[in-house]
Amino acid sequence: MGQRQGAVVRVEVSAVAAGQVDPAFWAGKRVFLTGHTGFKGSWMALWLQQMGAEVTGFALAAPTDPALFDVARVADGMASTIGDIRDAHALEAALVGAEPEIVLHMAAQPLVRASYDDPVGTYATNVMGTVHLLEAVRKASDVRACIVVTTDKCYENREWAWGYREDEAMGGYDPYSNSKGCAELVTSAYRRSFMVDRGIALASGRAGNVIGGGDWATDRLIPDILRSVAAGEAVIIRNPLAIRPWQHVLEPVSGYLVLAQALWKDPAGAAQGWNFGPRDDDARPVQWIVERMCAAWGQSARWIHDDSMQPHEARYLKLDISRARAELGWHPRWNLNQALNSIVSWHRAWLSGVDMHQYCLQELERFAGAGLAVAA
Ligand SMILES: NC(=O)c1ccc[n+]([C@@H]2O[C@H](COP(=O)([O-])OP(=O)(O)OC[C@H]3O[C@@H](n4cnc5c(N)ncnc54)[C@H](O)[C@@H]3O)[C@@H](O)[C@H]2O)c1
Repeated sequence: MGQRQGAVVRVEVSAVAAGQVDPAFWAGKRVFLTGHTGFKGSWMALWLQQMGAEVTGFALAAPTDPALFDVARVADGMASTIGDIRDAHALEAALVGAEPEIVLHMAAQPLVRASYDDPVGTYATNVMGTVHLLEAVRKASDVRACIVVTTDKCYENREWAWGYREDEAMGGYDPYSNSKGCAELVTSAYRRSFMVDRGIALASGRAGNVIGGGDWATDRLIPDILRSVAAGEAVIIRNPLAIRPWQHVLEPVSGYLVLAQALWKDPAGAAQGWNFGPRDDDARPVQWIVERMCAAWGQSARWIHDDSMQPHEARYLKLDISRARAELGWHPRWNLNQALNSIVSWHRAWLSGVDMHQYCLQELERFAGAGLAVAA
């Protein structure tokens, strides 16, 4: 299924070759989205709604308070089911009942440090939850394309300076990263064993550390910075030298949308794993981000290094996005400075009581204005 090493398999679809999200494609499509109450899922749901897709969501309640899901009134434009992907029957009933044509699987326990506290729960959600999702997809009659969202951390991290390519070994040091490597292997096995015969194009998307307005998760850099600077406190940083592939949340979300279009139109070429990382020079150390965020916020924002013993976290992690560029035509739109500025503006808007549903739609248009079409 398009897994030829070293060869370029260009997806011959005009809109996809241009790497653009195509609103005409999405208008009226029935989409089943897990994790719609989360940070990335809420942005995905808003974008799909904006293009006229019929969206059904399945997830636990929003994982934070406040949450983008509530602040941007995401539920208003979709059918939202609160449920647990560890419950195979509930997930199957919701998915089969929604009669989706496209399935996007984003629900997960997504935090490294939480995975040290609850490895069993992390594997149950991220691995068996993915198995349950793919079992339900097998039983639904109309699904043509399915994307399992994993992470850059799914790769066996060699702590080297080069970006990881799609065909490199899965691994993962900590339970979160490893659970996502396992979810990749599950996806690959289901693709070969069941999906090809059923005409379902199954792919996975591996993104970097996403940042953007509306993320209130604990133990994530940008929310931690914003919480501290807004309270007038020093930002406490654990790993200032750790390098991550930072990207605005709409970058991988656009990648998943472009990939789904490709899966629909060229299943044989597109049903594989894809990296959706940032430009190479946006893989920056934590310290670089903190200093720019503090400068953008102003008002004497400052940070200090917490050098107490911390659980292991990878130092170097980069994604090679050559394949998505060459074969899907997808590429990052915003550089890191644009992304950081947009986050500070988003957060200030929220603090000042702006209608954040409208603000998020405008944010989508600002992003689309850089080359992606969004329906009026
Ligand atoms: N945020 C990042 O930097 C990042 C980077 C790479 C990959 N990802 C992946 O993107 C996806 C979305 O991440 P996010 O940042 O939006 O996380 P998030 O915590 O904001 O959202 C997670 C979503 O999954 C749902 N969920 C969790 N456990 C569930 C369960 N047992 N049953 C049903 N729903 C459950 C939550 O309710 C929520 O809707 C995840 O798969 C994550 O691993 C995130």
